[in-house]
Amino acid sequence: MNAKVLVCLVLLLPVAGCGSEETTSSLGDPVKGKAAIAEYGCGSCHAIPDVPGANGRTGPTLERIAKRTYLAGVLPNTPEDMVRWIRAPETIDPRTAMPNMAVSVGDARDITAYLYTLK
Ligand code: HEC
Repeated sequence: MNAKVLVCLVLLLPVAGCGSEETTSSLGDPVKGKAAIAEYGCGSCHAIPDVPGANGRTGPTLERIAKRTYLAGVLPNTPEDMVRWIRAPETIDPRTAMPNMAVSVGDARDITAYLYTLK
């Protein structure tokens, strides 16, 4: 192992560690998220467990979404990507029927936290 590789390992491992902690803390409050889902009206297109009136059929059901491998069939199902999708689906799939609903970062994190309780 040359010195350069060693330096990389020493410098980058802790950074990678910080990154994964951020992932968890980037999740918001699931209770607020459930309320935000109702406010934004996601349920007009999605069936979402435990959200009253959320029984739309235009989009896929979000039942057990936490267990899904891909979001919208294209995006690995990680908290960051879930937040990205909720805030700007058209930047990920320009042809998607899901509209950009101008969801704030905070609300998207809370919504993501709620969706990840659906296992
Ligand atoms: C006008 C209908 C519509 C509304 C409103 C809507 N969505 Fe969607 N959503 C869709 C459609 C259609 C898809 C499938 C997209 C695709 O596969 O390209 C989708 C996909 C998703 C996915 C990925 C699901 C999967 O099975 O991979 C999530 C998560 C999601 N929406 C969350 C939300 C949230 C949260 C809101 C409210 C802020 C919302 N959606 C509002 C239509 C909608």
